[in-house]
This record gives sequence, C-alpha cells and structure tokens, in this order.
Amino acid sequence: MANNKKMPIDNLIKQLRIDNQPFQTVLKLCHFHTERLNQYFTHGETFPIHMEVSLTNKCNQKCPWCLNKNIRNGPHTPEFLNIASLSRFLRDYKKLGGKSITWSGGGEPTCHPNFNVALRKCNDVGLQQALITNGTFNDDALLSISENIIWVRFSIDTIDKMKYLNLKGTDIDIAMNNITNLIYLRNKKKYPKIGVNFNISYMNIDEIDKIIEYFNKLGVDYIQFRPMLWTPFSNSFLKYEWSNNSIDLFLDLLEGIIFKKINNCSKLIKIIVSKDKFSDLKKQSYGREYKYCSYHHFVSILNSNGDICTCMFHLYDDRFSFGNINKESLQNIWNGAKRKNVLRTIESKGIDFNDCQVCCKGQEINKFIDTIKNNGNEIDLNNMIPINKDWVGDYDADFL
Ligand SMILES: C[S@@+](CC[C@H](N)C(=O)[O-])C[C@H]1O[C@@H](n2cnc3c(N)ncnc32)[C@H](O)[C@@H]1O
Ligand code: SF4
Ligand code: SF4
Repeated sequence: MANNKKMPIDNLIKQLRIDNQPFQTVLKLCHFHTERLNQYFTHGETFPIHMEVSLTNKCNQKCPWCLNKNIRNGPHTPEFLNIASLSRFLRDYKKLGGKSITWSGGGEPTCHPNFNVALRKCNDVGLQQALITNGTFNDDALLSISENIIWVRFSIDTIDKMKYLNLKGTDIDIAMNNITNLIYLRNKKKYPKIGVNFNISYMNIDEIDKIIEYFNKLGVDYIQFRPMLWTPFSNSFLKYEWSNNSIDLFLDLLEGIIFKKINNCSKLIKIIVSKDKFSDLKKQSYGREYKYCSYHHFVSILNSNGDICTCMFHLYDDRFSFGNINKESLQNIWNGAKRKNVLRTIESKGIDFNDCQVCCKGQEINKFIDTIKNNGNEIDLNNMIPINKDWVGDYDADFL
C-alpha cells in the first residue's frame, strides 16, 4: 500500500463498527481483494469485483415498501435486458477482472423470459452467480438455479398467508414450495446456500418467533432480519417508525427470542441481524459519515435498459449512468468520457444525500474508503483482524 502505516486496520474497523456488518463486506475487500484496494488508493481507479444485474424492471408482486417502486409504473416498464448485449457484457466483464454477479433488480429477475439462458451464459464465462428473488419462479428456473447459483436469498417478509397475499399479491405457497424443493436439491450437492430475508417493521415484528421456528425446521442455511427502509421518493411512515426506542425494543425482543430458541432447540440455524443498519438508523446522520461515494469503483450495476450505473438506487438517472452496453463495449464505457464526467460530479462536490437511499448498500465501503482517504498516512492496511470464517466461506468472498 502507498501509505506509511500507523493505526492497524483492525482498530479502524472496530472504530467504524464495520465488524457489525453481518456479511463483513469490508473485511472481504481487505482480505481477498487487496490488489484492487491498492490500485484504487494509488490511481483513484479500479475495476468492480462484483456487479448486480437487473434483468428486468418487471415484477409479479407489489410490495408496498419496494425500494424500486418508483420505476414500476414509469415509462420504462416492462423492460427486459437484451440477451445478446448481456452475453457480450459478461465476456467483457470477466476479461476486465470481474468475478461475480448477483441477479437482483429493479424488478423480479426470474420474470425475464430468458432467465435460464442468462444463468447459463454467466456460467459459461466462469463468473460466480447469486440470486435475490421473491421466490415465485417455475420448475425450469428452479433447476437452472440449482445448477448455476452459489447462493440464493428469498425475500419473504411475512409468513402470514393472508398478510402475504394482501401485501405482495401472490400465494405464499409458490415461494414456500420453491424453497422446500431447492433445499431438497441443495442437500444432494451442498449448493446453493439458501437464505430467507425479512425486512422488519411493525407489520411483521410479531411473527419473529414463528419465522425462526418455521425456517429452522425447514432447513434453510440462514434467516436474515433487516430494518424495512423508507425511500427518498416517498415520505413513508417507516421514516417515523424507527425511533431509537423502537430499534432497541426490536433488538431486545429478537435477542430474547434467539436466546430462548438456543436453549430449546437441539440445532439452530444461523440468524443474521443487520445490526449495522439498525445502529445507523439511530444516528441523526443515518451513518452517512462520509462525503463521497466510492462504492461503484468496487461494485457496479447493470440495469435492464443496458445502463452501467453507480447503484440500484439511481436507475434511469443520467447523472449516475456511465454509458450503455447496447451502444458500446464495457471497456469503452469504463474508460469513457461519460463515466469520467459522472465521477467528476459526484467526487468533486460530494454526494447529495437527498437523492440517496438511507442505509444504502454502499454505506460500509463508503465509510471505510472515506476514512482511509482522510487518515491515509495513519492507517496500516496490512495489519488485519482475522476474518470470521463462519460468515465468509470460499463461496462468497467475491460478493461484496
Ligand atoms: C428490489 S428487490 C429485487 C429482487 C426481488 N424482486 C426480491 O424482492 O428479492 C431487492 C432487495 O431489496 C429489498 N427491499 C425492497 N424494499 C425494501 C425496503 N423498503 N427496505 C429494505 N429492503 C428492501 C428486497 O427485500 C430485496 O432483498
Ligand atoms: S418482489 Fe422485489 S421487486 Fe417486486 S415489489 Fe417486492 S421487493 Fe419490489
Ligand atoms: S445511494 Fe449509496 S451507493 Fe448510491 S450513490 Fe448514494 S451513496 Fe452511493
């Protein structure tokens, strides 16, 4: 590293409470991708290790809290990523040093009519793949997921049949059957890792006990609880729901339930609580103790319209778009004038948080990079705490 050390990086990580982040994104970056960090600090540039791809902005559900709800009824919907452009993109991305892809969105990735083709093409070029889905796919997609995907996270949010139907608009049994069938397939060959995610609010806080009971028996690999977030485009009740008291009450309740379960169950699966997000919500700054966004240097987005952009929270916003793979190669986009312009704007003025998602996915990397930039000569990037092997296996080191 270009700096002449002083504070060991583990002290910095503790100071920033980055070790609170359950998937240890920053630790993965430090441990497994040192050369990209080096490159970034030396040249101000590197190339993404991971990319999220929105195959489509179409969705067959209608979650009222959806972070991408604003695009659903817009002029661009429904839209499906062009498969020929995607194939070219996957080859270029791999050649330029990309390592992994998460199919997410946007919308529901399995709604793309060529979802299985996309997974096969990604496999053919040798990229690792993960999937975030509402779980409403058909049997062909189930097999394709089982064959190509290394981890899957199902967004479930409630296990109350009526609540699920009213809020999401589909029958919960479709997703539950797919989870059960995928567990059966996983048991034969270890992959994919299967997680279920619950965005928590007062809507479902009373279900936690039942959720743990149910999925523990079913045999998923982990259950995740995260705060349901409000978006910059809607002045949602969620903004007012998460007061300091309600967060503490929620965390006490959860810890109490987990403690009881540990004592009563012979085997308890992993329960992941996104404490980083809960603790950031308690701060007046919402944890945005950074001025610039550098996340997109390490993780970038391919949107269903072909745009390469900074994050899933600024789709269809030209200020955050680097160029389009339907018009030019990824290499030209990455080295092109349009991207340089975007970087100049968001890196010279700093980011306007009024436009940005609270507790966005880039937060932990942004906190980390910003602190190092400000204290570069005082931090020893080579002195690291051991990574928690419980969370970071060989299967997810390249997913940031
Ligand atoms: C927009 S969805 C797209 C993929 C897929 N349709 C799904 O729901 O999994 C991507 C992720 O955003 C999460 N998400 C949506 N709205 C959210 C909110 N208000 N707060 C926190 N996470 C949210 C979903 O739970 C999902 O994990
Ligand atoms: S399933 Fe996913 S994309 Fe669809 S509305 Fe729900 S959160 Fe949004
Ligand atoms: S929402 Fe987060 S990742 Fe996106 S531009 Fe803003 S700070 Fe960066």
